[in-house]
Amino acid sequence: MQAAYVEDLEDTLPLGVVLTDGRRVCLVRDGESIHAVEDRCPHRDFALSGGDVVAPCVLECPWHGARFDVRTGAVLQGPATDAIATFEVRVENGIVMIGPRRS
Ligand code: FES
Repeated sequence: MQAAYVEDLEDTLPLGVVLTDGRRVCLVRDGESIHAVEDRCPHRDFALSGGDVVAPCVLECPWHGARFDVRTGAVLQGPATDAIATFEVRVENGIVMIGPRRS
């Protein structure tokens, strides 16, 4: 499912998108790699796409500062305790395609 163009993504800036099936996804670029996670913090449901990429592949929630590894969805820092979902990503002709949930 098409989500964005690669050229729209910057390493330090998460991008929130809503897919045609209604999924809210946050895209994070790390060089040539692009990661997709659910755009919802499990702590208080804030949109993670409003946060910051504070280190390579580390997304920080803008509300209370929870941090997640966008490669695995794992929590790196509370107050969140639950991991976030990650999705398959494929790039075709400069277009970012999102597949099924991985975790
Ligand atoms: S809503 Fe994300 S850390 Fe609280």
